[in-house]
Amino acid sequence: MCGIVGYVGQGHADGRPREVVLEGLRRLEYRGYDSAGIAQVSPDGTLSTAKKAGKLANLVEEIDLHPLPDATAAIGHTRWATHGAPTDRNAHPHVAGRLAVIHNGIVENFVTLKAELAAQGVECTSETDTEVAAHLLARAYDATGDLTAAMTQVARRLEGTFTLLAVHADHPRTVVGARHDSPLVVGIGEGENFLGSDVAAFISATREALELGQDQVVTITPEGVVVTDFHGAPAEGRRYTVDWDTAAAEKGGFASFMDKEIHDQPHAVADTLLGRTDVRGRLVLDELRITEEVLRAVDKIVVVACGTAAYAGHVAKYAIEHWCRIPVEVELAHEFRYRDPVVNARTLVVAVSQSGETMDTLMAVRHAKEQGATTLAIVNTHGSTIPREADAVLYTHAGPEIAVASTKAFLAQITATYLLGLYLAQLRGTMFSDEVEGKLVELRAMPERIQTVLDRSDRVREIARWMADTPSVLFLGRHVGFPVALEGALKLKELAYIHAEGFAAGELKHGPIALVEPGQPVFVVVPSPRGRHSLHAKVVSNIQEIRARGARTLVIAEDGDEAVRPFADEVFYVPQCPTLLAPLLTVVPLQVFACELATAKGLDVDQPRNLAKSVTVE
Ligand code: G6P
Repeated sequence: MCGIVGYVGQGHADGRPREVVLEGLRRLEYRGYDSAGIAQVSPDGTLSTAKKAGKLANLVEEIDLHPLPDATAAIGHTRWATHGAPTDRNAHPHVAGRLAVIHNGIVENFVTLKAELAAQGVECTSETDTEVAAHLLARAYDATGDLTAAMTQVARRLEGTFTLLAVHADHPRTVVGARHDSPLVVGIGEGENFLGSDVAAFISATREALELGQDQVVTITPEGVVVTDFHGAPAEGRRYTVDWDTAAAEKGGFASFMDKEIHDQPHAVADTLLGRTDVRGRLVLDELRITEEVLRAVDKIVVVACGTAAYAGHVAKYAIEHWCRIPVEVELAHEFRYRDPVVNARTLVVAVSQSGETMDTLMAVRHAKEQGATTLAIVNTHGSTIPREADAVLYTHAGPEIAVASTKAFLAQITATYLLGLYLAQLRGTMFSDEVEGKLVELRAMPERIQTVLDRSDRVREIARWMADTPSVLFLGRHVGFPVALEGALKLKELAYIHAEGFAAGELKHGPIALVEPGQPVFVVVPSPRGRHSLHAKVVSNIQEIRARGARTLVIAEDGDEAVRPFADEVFYVPQCPTLLAPLLTVVPLQVFACELATAKGLDVDQPRNLAKSVTVE
């Protein structure tokens, strides 16, 4: 949700600030792509800006037509609109006097502040909440002559969520930033320093990063980085080295990041499983900073998440309840936060998030902590806010996920919840050690099986291309196949803008079957016939029921399941695996289907309309 980049370089002016910022914005464009803009400062005290509605390419074109001067510092922004339409005027940066500001988040008290500014004769020219911050900052700077002090003053006045970056024409070698409930990390270079919404902003220049805490102000110059709190008291960030490089953030020969990330999934799962056992083969989750005593006392687990991450939670419910005999609730984070959930010191609240920045999920974590619950984050992005605030963290190792709609992070999240379930089962003695080991062996075999599904995906691609004009697709599943059906429908909505619904197959006869008319495509995720037999038989009956009403049945079944063939227009076979692990395989053809169909429609699968990867507003 809005990408932010800041850069200060060596003393002499050149094109590097512009290049670094545009490259950073290119990597952050997944965060929002309603408009893009840049502000630069040159040593002669010139502030130059360019901004354009639409994708980053429009800004690049604008700069080609009207080149910017050489500079020493720059800030850049790619927007996901909240206040004000995505127009040139509302694009960031916003200029007040000799100062320019970019912003991610929402200034909730902007109406009051705008009225206050108006009473002092300051008129805002845009419809954004951001512009008030620019004017306040300009006034605070005029009073103090100190950009950092001005930023701390303004940060204390703003309510809501924000990351702000500012440059001032009087300070050609300085960028100042502030963060409150919105992401900002520092990149440490040699004779140059960087700021970004996440490390992707500067990964091509440095892998050395500094994680900032909540409510901190940061000032970067070529010589160094100074961090304070909102009152100017010195503060410290945490230094770390990013464990992936530029190649991980490139398409690597694939047509889209989405396609690449779908193909990365065997690695995402394998990497998430790496290093989780001790010399005796026992499962160890080192990062988990919760005592065994607390985990033994847990009598309820609540998984909170949004979007795809919430479906990973649904899969987790089946596995954890089965393995650990602990009740598991799964709730959309925004619903959890605003009802009155019954949680207490014996509740483990598990927040699942790729970005670690989703505001709804962060708020749910805070709410759970206030109620005395223990909170655990399952997150993919190091240095993000949710793991900092949760009591413990279990990182997924999917690598950077750039496409807006989630794929490899989903499989890594499911894998991490399996690890959590097995760990709890081991700790609480609901499974024998050899049973846990057996499950780990099965889990380690999953990357190869996912690869097999990918190797077989030609047919699903072909069908997707034929179906490019289809107006609606239904998805059915039972047991762990139910969240897979929900995710299959979500992927199709997100990528191809097609009406798609996922249903529990058992619910079919209670309503959704009314949607089935001749020719209606329906994907059905079939459980293993080697699992609980009645489950398989019931889903096969469901396929017959919809087929009898003319549906076109597209069935996902495991190798050797011949019982589905007579009732399926198409069968996509996946390798055999234990029932509870099957979502790691059965969702893959659905991801491929959505990606291919959207591509056939000529859509941008990496940046679907209206969406943002990291939703940092409520
Ligand atoms: C957005 C994205 C989804 C994602 C959801 C949760 O809506 O478009 O793809 O699943 O946020 O994101 P998180 O980073 O918390 O997993």
